[in-house]
Amino acid sequence: MSEPIPPPDRGSWGSRLGFILAAAGSAVGLGNLWKFPYLTYRFGGGETDQHGAGTFVFLYLICTVLVGLPLMMAEILIGRRARRNPVGAFKTLRPGTAWKGIGYLGLLAGFVILSYYAVVAGWAAEYVVKSVAFEFGDFQSHVSDDAVYDRVWQEAKEASGDATMPRELAVANFRAAHPDDASLADAMREKKLEAYPVALFHDFLASPGRMVGYFLLFMLLTVGVVLGGIASGIERWNRILMPALLLMLGVLAVRVLTLPGGARAVGFLFQPRLSDITLEMLLFALGQAFFSLSLGMGAILTYGSYLKRSDKVGSSALAIVSLDTVVALTASIIIFGSIFSYGLVMKGSGVGNLFTAIPVIFQHMPGGRVLVVVFYLLICFAALTSTVSLLEVVASYLIDERGMRRPKAVALAAGIITIVGIPCALSFNVLANFTLAGKTIFDLFDYFASNIALPVGGIGIAIFTGWVLTHAEKREELAEVPTPLFRAWHVLIRFVVPVAVTGVLIALLMGRVSG
Ligand code: PFF
Repeated sequence: MSEPIPPPDRGSWGSRLGFILAAAGSAVGLGNLWKFPYLTYRFGGGETDQHGAGTFVFLYLICTVLVGLPLMMAEILIGRRARRNPVGAFKTLRPGTAWKGIGYLGLLAGFVILSYYAVVAGWAAEYVVKSVAFEFGDFQSHVSDDAVYDRVWQEAKEASGDATMPRELAVANFRAAHPDDASLADAMREKKLEAYPVALFHDFLASPGRMVGYFLLFMLLTVGVVLGGIASGIERWNRILMPALLLMLGVLAVRVLTLPGGARAVGFLFQPRLSDITLEMLLFALGQAFFSLSLGMGAILTYGSYLKRSDKVGSSALAIVSLDTVVALTASIIIFGSIFSYGLVMKGSGVGNLFTAIPVIFQHMPGGRVLVVVFYLLICFAALTSTVSLLEVVASYLIDERGMRRPKAVALAAGIITIVGIPCALSFNVLANFTLAGKTIFDLFDYFASNIALPVGGIGIAIFTGWVLTHAEKREELAEVPTPLFRAWHVLIRFVVPVAVTGVLIALLMGRVSG
């Protein structure tokens, strides 16, 4: 089969490193820094389950190696060969077939993900402002004495196992334990620090104006970058800011590991118990692997379409997957290390852990006041390189397939996504009680995209690569991969990926029907 002719003027990456950094920029984002620690917390029963978190992490790693890595290679391969957006790629490689449907599903997933992802990215933007304004510094004034006594009462009830204990008694005991003014003030201060970051975050969640405002701000930022075209903007910034993020995470990890709770965090994350595995956990681990690696919807395929023929697919995929995994694990160690070391009081699902646990570490670090600003800026940047890739998928489709000019394509896509995203931003306040099957709009979007649309797209991509593309087509794109590794990859992409992912989805469906 002859090679497809690339359309003119598509541009390409300045170098292979440029591609790796951009694809890694798409992969590394809130999925690693926010969602992975949040899901880990959830499956760890909010810190109480000895092995739940470890079991989830273990499943996640298996999914990453057996499903994520082979699919990453497949997407890069398809993109580079076709030199098109996801829909156009399938049209080009197998004209007149229904395979382009995978591309359309990817577009839908891109729409859905960006609409709630930009909401969380907006939180990071708000936290830049908070850290510049140094709102974490004067936590004392934000938590009332009354709130502290409520907490003291709660703790006393839990400690004694006596749910009927009167509040006055608990408070009197607490005061008696700190007889002089100085030690009482110290104890109050300590308790306020434990509760304050969470109170601050929930205060923010409750404000519809701020939630929508920061979401809109982030959509605008994304539009700005995507309008600038692919290589000039994204590639240049990635080269500086991605390493900066890694450096900062490294510093924080070292810091946390020297704190009393550091070792406990490591134990919490890495002690799986296989008998704890549930189908739900497996589905979430799989969905998270897709989400975190930007797989299943053509984002990596789109970036791969800008890759030069001389660049290597296999080693690039390995580099991106490794980097992504290291960032997710490091972020979790930092967040749990902070929670355990400072005895933070978490509340609810853990959805805000990235925003509640981190400022506390900086509060106890020399130079923390400035570093915390830098850190949240880097998180915003990591989120931006992901939102950009999401919007680019949709925009490149409208440009290549619908003949739109870039500004019009970007404005149209972003406009629709913004409208759909506003209810997601309101899911934490005005629309908090608007639920379906116990899930808010925000949760539903996340569930649909990560746990259904991306895995289904992944099955399609695996079958297309494994069974539809000819051996020669694949071998040509993976020319540099040694034969034994090529064979192993081929087995994974033909059998393991489609069977395993389909199995999980079917089991889930049957569980739903019978349950
Ligand atoms: N991988 C991104 C993250 O972990 O934050 C999220 C994402 C970006 C998912 C792009 C899908 C995508 F196409």
